[in-house]
Amino acid sequence: MAHTKLLWTGRFSQPLSEIALRFSSSIELDKEMYREDILGSIAHVEMLASAKILTAAEARRIRTALNAIGTEIENDKLALTWDKEDIHTAVEQRLTQKIGALGGKLHTARSRNDQVALDERLYLRGAIRELQKLIVQLQRVLLYKAEKNFSTIMPGYTHMQRAQPVLLSHHLLAYAGMFERDFERLNDVYKRINKMPLGSAALAGTSFAIDRASVAKKLGFDGIVENSMDAVSDRDYLIEYIAACSITMMHLSRFAEELVLWSSQEFAFARTDDAYTTGSSIMPQKKNPDMAELVRGKAGRVFGDLVNLLTTMKGLPLAYNRDMQEDKVPMFGTTATTRQCLFIFSHILVHTQFDAKRFEEELKNDFLTATELADFLVKKGMAFRDAHAATGKVVAFCIQHQRSMADLTLDELQKFSDKFDVSSQALLDPRHSIENKKSAGSTSSQEVKKQIVHWMRILKARKV
Ligand code: ARG
Repeated sequence: MAHTKLLWTGRFSQPLSEIALRFSSSIELDKEMYREDILGSIAHVEMLASAKILTAAEARRIRTALNAIGTEIENDKLALTWDKEDIHTAVEQRLTQKIGALGGKLHTARSRNDQVALDERLYLRGAIRELQKLIVQLQRVLLYKAEKNFSTIMPGYTHMQRAQPVLLSHHLLAYAGMFERDFERLNDVYKRINKMPLGSAALAGTSFAIDRASVAKKLGFDGIVENSMDAVSDRDYLIEYIAACSITMMHLSRFAEELVLWSSQEFAFARTDDAYTTGSSIMPQKKNPDMAELVRGKAGRVFGDLVNLLTTMKGLPLAYNRDMQEDKVPMFGTTATTRQCLFIFSHILVHTQFDAKRFEEELKNDFLTATELADFLVKKGMAFRDAHAATGKVVAFCIQHQRSMADLTLDELQKFSDKFDVSSQALLDPRHSIENKKSAGSTSSQEVKKQIVHWMRILKARKV
């Protein structure tokens, strides 16, 4: 199949072989940025007219045709196939088909090197806002679940060993804080993405007296990427974006892991509705938490994208190298995966019920409140280290005699320290342990209520 004319054939005596073109074409991926490509071209052409490099009439005709091409692509009327090399080529070729030689003036004072950097930055701005919306949605579900399960207490874990009683709401809102930082991180990345690279041309700038600042302004950027070589050479903005998404995926994956564990018969703390779980093709009894497992699994893709792009970039001399075209796989891949996972996770969570009774069963007959006893002794004047040792002996005694701490008589307790008194036994109640917490940000219901109010305020005011 003969391919359509590429943008650079003048000095060549042979057409690019089909094999080479198929290998090197990026259009299958970068067609996802067609809107950004057209938007950038329109801003460029308007600037060229203001700078008197094109006439106003020429710019108008080009702009109208570019808009029409956008509609064609929107409606699947323009074939974006491998023979077009990339989205930039496809749009320019179509433009020339539509308005003849005038179409060839669009590329004055720019190169695909700065064009692709612009398209990516525009695309990432949109992607960031979309991911932020999904983060807020997830935080809202967390808040809803935290309020709904406010009275539920559960064993908190360290090292996967039962540690201290906490409110389930406290556990859930820990994730609200993590996702909040993910949200902020995207804002930080946005700031650095939001600089305009166009007008750097291939690497050295251009001999035309263009006005880069006006293009930046028109496209809503906070100024230009100053150095033309920097503008076309680096992909740090994209690496940073993928790093931010990786952290979000890591958070989602931890949460997913907890849902997987909690859905097991061994824990049985959580039950996800049938509509969000799957069965086994051989074992009729199975109900598997596949959605959570897939979120956990897909984190690997995004981490892979980060290493992928870092590795692509690490050996590249300035300025543009074609290797950089490979950035599309991690850019679109990370965006799609993070978007999907945030979206499904909100749904999984809405459709997951937590079992207050099961949590409570696990709070009995264990030593989750041992720290309370130690703290009690400290308040009676003992050094914490000694109190820790004395309480440790109580625990060892219970284990040895298969007793639970709550059943020990005062006499028995006082064998370990004469500082224990009638009030010390009440400390062993998990609810008491929770309410006894005094520090800011602790798991006492008073502190957790403050968190709920805090998140309500933040999430209500958030306009994304
Ligand atoms: N498709 C290319 C990419 O994504 C566009 C830039 C091409 N530049 C070039 N000098 N061949 O990187």
